[in-house]
Amino acid sequence: MKKYLIQPGQETITAVEVPEPEVGPGEVKVRLAAASLNYRDILNRKFSDKEIVPFSDGAGEVVEVGAGVADLKVGDRVVGLFFPNWMEGETTKEIHSVARGGGETDGMLAEVVVGPEKSFLKYPDHLSAEEAATLPCAGLTAWHALFEHKSPVKKGDLILLQGTGGVSIFALQLAVAHGIKTIVTSSSDEKLERVKAMGATHTINYKTTPDWEKEVYRLTEKRGVDLVVEVGGAGTLEKSMKAVRYSGVISLIGVLTGLKATVNPFPIVGKSLQVYGIYVGSRAMQENFHAALAEHQIRPIVDRVFPFAEANDIYDYQLSGAHFGNVVVKGECGEAPMKSFRGLLVE
Ligand SMILES: NC(=O)c1ccc[n+]([C@@H]2O[C@H](COP(=O)([O-])OP(=O)(O)OC[C@H]3O[C@@H](n4cnc5c(N)ncnc54)[C@H](OP(=O)(O)O)[C@@H]3O)[C@@H](O)[C@H]2O)c1
Repeated sequence: MKKYLIQPGQETITAVEVPEPEVGPGEVKVRLAAASLNYRDILNRKFSDKEIVPFSDGAGEVVEVGAGVADLKVGDRVVGLFFPNWMEGETTKEIHSVARGGGETDGMLAEVVVGPEKSFLKYPDHLSAEEAATLPCAGLTAWHALFEHKSPVKKGDLILLQGTGGVSIFALQLAVAHGIKTIVTSSSDEKLERVKAMGATHTINYKTTPDWEKEVYRLTEKRGVDLVVEVGGAGTLEKSMKAVRYSGVISLIGVLTGLKATVNPFPIVGKSLQVYGIYVGSRAMQENFHAALAEHQIRPIVDRVFPFAEANDIYDYQLSGAHFGNVVVKGECGEAPMKSFRGLLVE
């Protein structure tokens, strides 16, 4: 089988031929159908000092189960969990130290992946593998940012979404499905037209309106939004503090504008803000997320699919900022048609 490797010091990932891993007790073997790229994978390729398989996110079909596997069976269509050991409740240092495709833990960009059954979860029936591949990181992060902390948003609330990348577009879809109003920012008027067509309530071009927080204030009649999905990081956080209402929520997620800046923290105190550090989420959250996707029949936005052999090109594409939503690499085996294994089960 083939798998890709990040090799420290190399600017590209390398495909290598290796024997298929054996399945141990309590483990399942998954044949990859699709894997999805996250901004984190770009950072990992640049900064990893370990040789690891890249990509936290992937979906595939269970092709073998080890002794004692109780919940999954051959033919199940599953995604790999971002944090294989975070089942529920609060996270810990130990849980966070094991995240697919980063640190010392192999990711999903391999034709075959083996791991404990609890580190995989069935995905909703209405999704293709390419759509499902986007759920573990971008999707779950958006779900967590909106609904899984102590101040979840509710119908009628107004939230601010920054840009049109994987996390923000998921947040838009979830918000629209739950009757939550949105202000979406983007550097592109064309992308803003697309989010309007998807149900965004208001849009702002953050390039032509660099003081976008003032526009948010105007649109909300000086009240501010109920929640910000903050993916910009150091360069946007102060603006987000201005754009959110008193006692409002900032779900702090990303670092698109970098890590370092002088940030005045006083508005957190002065406006009694609730700032939550969101780091993907647990298996329990992923289950809630899948249930919501099924209930509302939400289909992730897959902007472009790259062949397995061209996995290196996906990084440049995402870095170019041309994408809208998520970008995906197809597993070499391709997706098993749902009919084929359903037929097998019936027979
Ligand atoms: N904490 C977590 O658990 C977690 C999980 C997933 C991602 N993240 C982080 O969240 C961030 C977003 O991830 P992603 O996967 O959604 O990235 P992505 O798909 O690469 O999104 C990039 C998009 O963000 C927008 N953007 C860039 N700079 C911006 C700015 N200054 N203001 C507003 N929007 C801006 C752009 O949208 P336009 O093209 O529309 O301008 C760009 O296309 C990254 O920093 C990533 O590392 C964190």
